[in-house]
Amino acid sequence: MRFSIIVSEVIAFLSVAVFAAPNEITPRENPVAIPAKLIPESIVNATALGVDVWGPVPDDATKGNGFYTATPGTLGWAWIRAQQDLGSYEDLLESRGLLPSAAVEKRQTTSITVNAYSGDWCTGSAWHFTNPAYNVRVLPSENSFWYSFGFSYRTLRANENVQLRRGPYNGDRCQTWHGTINGPTQAGICWQIASTTCFEMKQT
Ligand SMILES: *[C@@H]1O[C@H](CO)[C@@H](O)[C@H](O)[C@H]1NC(C)=O
Repeated sequence: MRFSIIVSEVIAFLSVAVFAAPNEITPRENPVAIPAKLIPESIVNATALGVDVWGPVPDDATKGNGFYTATPGTLGWAWIRAQQDLGSYEDLLESRGLLPSAAVEKRQTTSITVNAYSGDWCTGSAWHFTNPAYNVRVLPSENSFWYSFGFSYRTLRANENVQLRRGPYNGDRCQTWHGTINGPTQAGICWQIASTTCFEMKQT
């Protein structure tokens, strides 16, 4: 009798330990533990700050016309950077039957978004443009320069491209074309680009 109680306590302890293992994410709405090695670093980082990557953009991000912007070290920045890896992460979880359906239902983005960064390799201040329309030149209201780009939720399709443009400070920020990112793009890429102040998404 006494032995069997001890055994069941040991089993209870072990199962708690499995679910409470550090570096695992347990989405609040779904008690499925996702192995830490599957989680992209940007999502680990955001979650460590208490950011729900499937939830709305944190309050400390600044809202602009069709975009959010955030500086490094803020919750908003962690959220924006994590969005970039969310689509491929969801695909991976889905392929293993681990995708929490409640999370996907509240996901903020349903189509492509463009993340632009003031630093190389998706660092520095971040701008998150939601579902940019085709053939519209997009530039934030402020005088910002971008040196890297990433795509959120989905990648560029084969018939899509992003035209990179730039122009002078306090002038026409879309003045000259200097490069194109052509679809189809792979997930998880951070594009290193020459100084860019404006972009335009196109469909061919
Ligand atoms: C995650 O956080 C670490 C530590 O601050 C940092 O070095 C790393 O660049 C971050 N990863 C991403 C993808 O932002």
